[in-house]
Amino acid sequence: MAEQLNIPHTGVKKDIYEAILPQIEALVSGEKDLIANMANVSAVLKEAFHFLWVGFYLVKEEQLVLGPFQGPVACTRIQYGRGVCGTAWKQQAAIVVPDVDAFPGHIACSSRSRSEIVIPMIADNKVFAVLDIDSELLNRFDKEDLNYLTQICNMIN
Ligand code: SME
Repeated sequence: MAEQLNIPHTGVKKDIYEAILPQIEALVSGEKDLIANMANVSAVLKEAFHFLWVGFYLVKEEQLVLGPFQGPVACTRIQYGRGVCGTAWKQQAAIVVPDVDAFPGHIACSSRSRSEIVIPMIADNKVFAVLDIDSELLNRFDKEDLNYLTQICNMIN
């Protein structure tokens, strides 16, 4: 297992994703524990992109419960259909929120969050977790992020 990440400090975000993808693969491929892998994925994404918050919520007893994350403290439980995370769970589809203030029902764990992306992780047709990332920048996430982050989620599925 690599102990140190090799992350380019220049270039577009595609270059950073392309650099971290094989490193994440190397980190998670020998480990089958979901929580351990979520913890390392959170750490890599935080270090690579300096997002405000990056982490996972896990479906437990019909709620989303806070899992491994990097960033400020966050709300511990989210109900089905509530907030961006609960909506992505309900819709079984990723959600890109360019402006959190314009998303009805957005749950503001941090007042510094301006935009957000949530990707549901699905097995046997059921959402078992979501990856949630918050940025202090408006409109930080696009299809490119969605594509790469989905690939990363699939590595620990
Ligand atoms: N904003 C999320 C809540 C989780 S925090 O961002 C970490 C939502 O609306 O579901």
